[in-house]
Amino acid sequence: MFKKLAVAGGLSVFLASGFALMPAQADLDFRGTVSGEPLDFTGEEESPQFKEFKNTGINPYNGNQEALNKGYVIFATACSGCHGHLAEGKLGPALSDDYWTYPTNLEDKGLFETIYGGAAGQMGPQQGLLEPDEILHVMSWVRALQTEPEKAKKAVDTFEHRNG
Ligand code: HEC
Repeated sequence: MFKKLAVAGGLSVFLASGFALMPAQADLDFRGTVSGEPLDFTGEEESPQFKEFKNTGINPYNGNQEALNKGYVIFATACSGCHGHLAEGKLGPALSDDYWTYPTNLEDKGLFETIYGGAAGQMGPQQGLLEPDEILHVMSWVRALQTEPEKAKKAVDTFEHRNG
């Protein structure tokens, strides 16, 4: 490994110094989907996963069955009344199909901005109702509806089994 570094020579020194100049925690700019106003995380409890997410914009819980299971418990409590039991749509739009009113929801950062900061009408901000880490959990379930439907279904089955 050291040999390789030596061969790379000047280039690696150049790259290393470049990276050293980058701020360690360059958080992304989070804004309300509809309001466009910066989201304010002051006072929030920040899990390591949320800290990572603020930096990368990628939900670290995606694809993690345990996180999806927890995410569905949160969905069933906080979202299903409006979006339907399986996110098939009710008062709020379906989240289970590939149509998004706000295409920014295709990315985790945009999805977080919609849930945390709210959208229009009945879609109020979840800020203050759910912890950022809980929102990441619920997002992992919503995302799996499209990307890994069998895992999303398993989370529902687990929930229903637990609740008789
Ligand atoms: C009181 C009813 C209500 C609750 C509770 C609610 N929503 Fe919504 N949601 C809506 C409505 C209505 C819209 C449409 C708003 C719009 O188009 O701006 C919406 C829109 C959305 C969208 C944007 C969909 C798109 O097509 O771009 C997402 C994502 C979403 N909700 C996720 C959630 C999640 C996750 C929860 C639970 C944490 C939740 N909502 C709780 C009513 C609700």
